[in-house]
Amino acid sequence: MDRSGYKAELIAVARPFWDAEAEVAHRFFAKKPSREDWIRYLRAAVYKELNPAIGYGPTTGFACGLHMEFAKIVDMFKGLDASVDRRELYHHLHVMTEEFNHYLVLAEVLEFVLGRKLTRDDPEQLPEDKKLNAMRRAHVESGDPCLRAVMGLTEGGGSSTFREMAKLSGGPLEDRLAQAMQVIYVDEKDHYGEAATAAATAVGSPADLARMKKALHEVSVQRVRMRSEMLGWPMSEAEIDRLAACHPVR
Ligand SMILES: [Fe+2]
Ligand SMILES: [Fe+2]
Repeated sequence: MDRSGYKAELIAVARPFWDAEAEVAHRFFAKKPSREDWIRYLRAAVYKELNPAIGYGPTTGFACGLHMEFAKIVDMFKGLDASVDRRELYHHLHVMTEEFNHYLVLAEVLEFVLGRKLTRDDPEQLPEDKKLNAMRRAHVESGDPCLRAVMGLTEGGGSSTFREMAKLSGGPLEDRLAQAMQVIYVDEKDHYGEAATAAATAVGSPADLARMKKALHEVSVQRVRMRSEMLGWPMSEAEIDRLAACHPVR
């Protein structure tokens, strides 16, 4: 199999779960979410944008993961034109600036719903997101370049939630959220394809591909749990387990 074949196989593993994230969003809208539903979702969404690195470690000593990422980036300047490639440095700066903008646009929507300024206590990580990060971190820190590479493909769930929420309309909150989601969607929509290309490059053998598919499957299922929890469980854990069983890794 060639690179494009690996890429297609990896995307095929994740696709049913990206679709499930879109379905979770549809069910959330269909049940006419309350103010509390929106607040829970937005608190968790703001937290995720403030902590955007895949499988980040402890952020002790930093205000949030984004602060920690920018501190690393600032340190990279010490190696500029020596050990640090300037395009790589620019890439990190660019991506983390986008993440800061995602935080900014969602924080503004949350302030609108709350009717007050945010405090440092408003962003909130929910339990399934904690599990998701721990799972990703184990893969990122496994020392296996294949598992590390495939984790990039677990960012954003194929952008399906952003895409669906960008279609919202019909009220001041819906319109504001749709605008914020459009910003995020435009930034993120090509990421899964790029991440899949990068992951396919890391594949050196059928065993590599098999290991990557297994890790991608595990994390993609956990992403659906994370998303469903944020949106008040419109898809139950039992249904998510059934979905995972219906789409096994081959
Ligand atoms: Fe992102
Ligand atoms: Fe983001």
